[in-house]
Parts: sequence; C-alpha cells; structure tokens
Amino acid sequence: MPYEGIEAQVSFQTWRLDDTHQTLVLAARRARLPEVVYWGAPLPMGDDLSVVAAAHAIDVTGGMLDENPDLSICPEVVRTFPGQPGLIVRAHDGTPLLPKFCFDGEETDDTTLCLRFVDAENGLHYSARYTTDPHTGIITTTAVLDADSPVHLHWLAAPVFPAPQFSDEMIDVSGRWCGEFQLNRTAWSPGMRYRENRTGRTGHEHFPGLIVPCRGATNTRGEAYAFHYGWSGGHKMIAEELPDGRRQIQFGHASRMEMEPATRFETAPLYVTYSHDGLNGCAVAFQRHLRDRILTPASDAPRPVHYNCWEAVYFDHKLPVLKDIAERAAALGAERFVLDDGWFGQRDDDTTSLSDWEVDPRKYPDGLGPLIDHVRGLGMGFGIWFEPEMINPDSNTHRAHPDWALGSEDQVLGRQQKALNMALAEVRDFIYERMAAILSKYEIDYVKWDHNRVLPMPDAKQTRGSYALIDRLRAAFPHVEIESCASGGGRIDFGILKRTQRVWLSDSNDALERLKMQRNAALFLPMTVTGSHVGPRVCHTSGRVLDISFRAWVAAQRHMGFEMDPRELTDHEATVLREVTGWWKHNRDWLLKADILGLDSPDPVIIAEQQMAADKQRFVVFAGKAGTSAQIAPRPLRLTQLDPAASYEVSLINRLSAPALSRGTPALKDRALTLSGAYLMTHGLTLPWSFPETMWVLEGKRSG
Ligand code: DGJ
Repeated sequence: MPYEGIEAQVSFQTWRLDDTHQTLVLAARRARLPEVVYWGAPLPMGDDLSVVAAAHAIDVTGGMLDENPDLSICPEVVRTFPGQPGLIVRAHDGTPLLPKFCFDGEETDDTTLCLRFVDAENGLHYSARYTTDPHTGIITTTAVLDADSPVHLHWLAAPVFPAPQFSDEMIDVSGRWCGEFQLNRTAWSPGMRYRENRTGRTGHEHFPGLIVPCRGATNTRGEAYAFHYGWSGGHKMIAEELPDGRRQIQFGHASRMEMEPATRFETAPLYVTYSHDGLNGCAVAFQRHLRDRILTPASDAPRPVHYNCWEAVYFDHKLPVLKDIAERAAALGAERFVLDDGWFGQRDDDTTSLSDWEVDPRKYPDGLGPLIDHVRGLGMGFGIWFEPEMINPDSNTHRAHPDWALGSEDQVLGRQQKALNMALAEVRDFIYERMAAILSKYEIDYVKWDHNRVLPMPDAKQTRGSYALIDRLRAAFPHVEIESCASGGGRIDFGILKRTQRVWLSDSNDALERLKMQRNAALFLPMTVTGSHVGPRVCHTSGRVLDISFRAWVAAQRHMGFEMDPRELTDHEATVLREVTGWWKHNRDWLLKADILGLDSPDPVIIAEQQMAADKQRFVVFAGKAGTSAQIAPRPLRLTQLDPAASYEVSLINRLSAPALSRGTPALKDRALTLSGAYLMTHGLTLPWSFPETMWVLEGKRSG
C-alpha cells in the first residue's frame, strides 16, 4: 500500500533510558511530541530503536482514521486524539489555545532526558524531563509549560505513560479518617477512571498513587507498573482506555488550581516504576526512593521510640501528670516525648486559639521549661504539636486579622477552624515568627505538624505557601524533625516528605485497623517514615479491646511509639511492651533500611509481610491474624526473595504466646529450624494455630 510505504520511510527520533530494572523508549515522527513505545523489562542495548518504534504501531481498519493519533507524552487535541488531552490552556483573554508542538531541542545524559518542544503560533513551550535512578528503579518525570505571554492553565499532565495491555485491572488508593490506605481494584474498560481531589490537601480519600498489575501479578510474582504524584495540594488522575484499546495514565495537579494567568507552570514530580517482582518490586522501589533520595533527615541518629501524650490527656495538660507520664514512658523505653495539642492560647478544647502560638500561662505558669527539663532529664528528646496553617475564628489572631483566613466569611468550618491564606507573605511571616520563637526558646527537636481540615477551595498557591513556610523553618532549625499529620494520614505524599521526616499514618491506634493500613501503605512508604503507636487497651476510635502483645507487635512493624496513658498498664502489659520495644531497638538499625515485602497468604485473614535486610542475610516475618480462618489448620505461609540454594535458620520469637488451644507440636513451637530458601519459598512455613487478633513474629538468618 502506497500509504504504508510512505510511512515506512518516515524516520523516527528515538531516545532510551535504562536502569537495572527497566528500559523506557520514546520515539517521535515528523518532529512531533514523542510516544512511549516501550516500557518494561530491560531491552538489550543492541536493539534498534527505530525498529522498536515501527513495531509499536497499531494497524488501521474500517471505522478508524487513516493514521492512528499518537498517544504522546502530552496528547494534543489538534492531532484528533480521541481521549483526554495532556494540556488545556487558554490565552489571557480566555480564548482556548490548541497547542501543536514541534521538537525544539534536547539535553540528555546517562540518567536524564530533557526534551523541549515549541508551538510558535501560540507562543507556548513544553518540556518533559525524565530521570532514572539505578539504585531505586524509580523514573522521576516532570512537565513544564512556558508561555511567551501570560496564559490561564486548566490542566497540565506530567509526562503521560501508556498502561499495559496485558492487564485486567488497576489498583488505586482511597480512605477516610481512621481508615487510610484502602485499595480499590477497578477493571479496565473503555472510557476512563477519573479521580480528582479537590480538597486542597493530599487527603485521606485520595492518596495519589496507582498500580497497574499485569494479569496474574501478586505481591511476590508477575509484572506491575506503578505511579505516585508527589504533591500535597490535591491531584487528578486519568486512567483511560481509548476506543482503539490503547490505554493512557495521566497525573497532575487537580485541574483549575492555578488561579492567575502566568508564563510558567510546572507539574510536581511523577514517580513511576516497572516491576517484574510483583507488587513488591514497585513497593521496594518507592520505599527505597523515598528513604534514600527524597527524605532529608534532621540527624543520623537512629529513629527514637516516641511517646505522644494525645490519647492520654487530650487538652487536659497538668504539669505533674505529664511529668509522671513522661517518667513511665521513659521506663518503657520511649526516647522522645511529644507534647500534643493543648499547650497554647486558651486551648481547652478544639474550638479556640489556633494561630495564637504562645504558651498558655494557666497550664504552664513557668513556660514549657519545667516540662522540657524533666523530659530531657529522663534522657528523652522533646517534640511539640503545631497546626501552623490553621486559625480559629475564636483566636486573638483572627480578631486582629480576619482577612488572613482563606475563603469566605460564611464558609463551613472544619473542626471549628478556617485555613490561613498561606499565599500571603505576611501570614507566613507571622506564623514563622511565632513558631521560631518557641523553637528558639526551648530545646525542641521535633514538630508534629497537623492540618485538620480541607481547604474551602483548591489553590496551588496555598500548597506552595505551605511548602515555603516549612522550608524556611527547616533552614532555620535544621535539627528539628517534622512529622506530617492531617487528622492522621491526610497529608502523605512525596512532596510533603521532601520536607518532613515522618507521617502520622492514621488517628487509628487500633492495631487491627493498623495491620491492614500499614500493609497497604508499604506499597509506597518505608518503615522509617511510618509512625505507629501502641494505643490504649480500649481503642479510643473503635472501642475495640486488643491484647498488648498484638498492639505492641503491630507498632513494632513501623516507626514505633506509644500513645496510651501508661498509668493504665498492668505489670504484665508493661513487661510485654518493654520487651517488644527492646526487640525493636535492638533490631532497628537493619530494620530501618530493610525492604518491606508483602507475602501472598493462602489464608485471606493472615496479613503477612517479610522485612528483608539490605544485605539479604536476615529477615523478620510478621504474620498478623486479622480474623477467624475458614479452615481449622493454618495454611503454610510462603516467604519470598530468598536464595533457593541457601539455608536459613528460622525461629518463632514469640512462640511462648501460643494459646493453650494450640495443642499440637509443630516444630516451630519449640525450636528454630534450618530450611532451604527453596523450601521456604515453595512450601512455606506452617505456623501454629492462634487466636484472631494475634501476631506471629519469625526471625530468619541465612546460615549457609
Ligand atoms: C489530629 C491528629 O491526628 C491527632 O493525632 C492529634 O494531634 C490531634 N489532631 C490534636 O488536635
């Protein structure tokens, strides 16, 4: 066919990026925007990319255009693209612009590809940047739009990726207060799954992540592709199957978040990865990338065990009680005491005083010094709670500056508060001065930074303002660590984690809820940032009563802490807590650098993970029982990522917790066993019978 003949002669511009995990190939014809023509397992370096690009093209049949529109890195309306475009923009006067970009130049090296395009007619410039990281296997991408004169931006996608055809479903993440990190599986079908977070913060409801497993993929096996958009102001995701069957993934800021016309817009980084190790391959890439590339730790010291007083005293701060609690917490093994909400203004409940960041003289007549000295005298660090971006109408600050609040006078309040307008420099200066005064006056090494309501409307300036305030405080107080909290896990993303060191995953200290949440959150988050506290015997947010051993081991799966009133502990509970905390401290050096791998449990009530040391010489398995099994005997649990030929000594370190109803004699109940990696990964370990809401903890060491 003459048409095909002509096409065959059109040469491709091609680019490739490689790391040990994957190859990404981009190709463009006729100086247009390129398409991703290959993304997956590493391709041989000798592969001819023009052939790869030519082989990628799909056929044309009846009812189709004469040429299939490119699924480019920024699909363009004017190319008859049948799906969602990657850019929606208007001129200053509101006229829609329909960009058509042409190649304008490139900068490349071994790990970075930066491609520039121009639309001379509309005065627009689009550039896409890709950076690989051989250590982590994450490709980081951003898109930038420059305009010769100010334009209104409606939507700018980070560089667009195709989704695999050999996939039946996608997994994204939703949640709620006390129920963060719930996974949703949605079958692919023509049309799109469109998620847009218009709350102005990352939100419990909208963690900006997506996993696209290929058919048959599990935690430990198969192929998967994953995406995370590192932005705290609310994102939009499009996962679309076009009429011709091709699929595209777009991520960017929520649309219409830029309120003013401008000459430059930039997406947040989109982090993507391909795995041939099941969902675990994606999880490990994100965990390592966050831990080793994005976090900016405040010190090299090991993560301290926290004590947070919120659920012990709430707003009822009394110095003698807090001192007593601090002593007990230290005796249990706590290494940092965090004074939560209630220390400032007239804050006896949540109706008042946010933004009046001065110590309440009724509760602390001599300031915070006596408490901090006491805590420090016990050998603990000291942390303090702020909610810097918020203001109560009932506050001195609001009375003096009602115009500092974001949104209208008659807006619906959230937890009786409004958000401050963080785009205003005077607001940021004021909050900075108040916080800096506290951080300068007292020996404080930690800030729990809360954000307890959604915004009245999404606005990218607000997020940029928040980032600027955090960055300024971090620069002035580099030794102060920050925990990102927003009614629990309402602000968790790689954008906030660039400037903070821990997240408060959830306000739920219910170990059963946490077990599930922590498992799912580890698809993106490493141990080092994931705060997990042992809560009260009767959980304050669920009413559930859980045994101390289960509560303690679930907290020990992540960055451990306590939040109950230690005065409620029986001697037995205190002993268990001390022992588990001791175990965590003894192991934290390697645990904090370990990969968290989900296991494929044959019993759906067993939620299990294997934390694998960086040198692969040791591991720990946590197998939590979240309910009652359908069958009577435990099914063997397969381990993962071991050397099949190596031997491992495995021991059930809490075997003495077996209940009397476990009447048999499984070998693990009385001794360590040495088994090959092949056995452990193929047959799996048969654990003793146990009650629901308990956890088996197994240690493994390579022995030969
Ligand atoms: C919400 C947080 O998630 C809690 O941990 C606690 O800090 C309260 N705010 C304090 O108001």
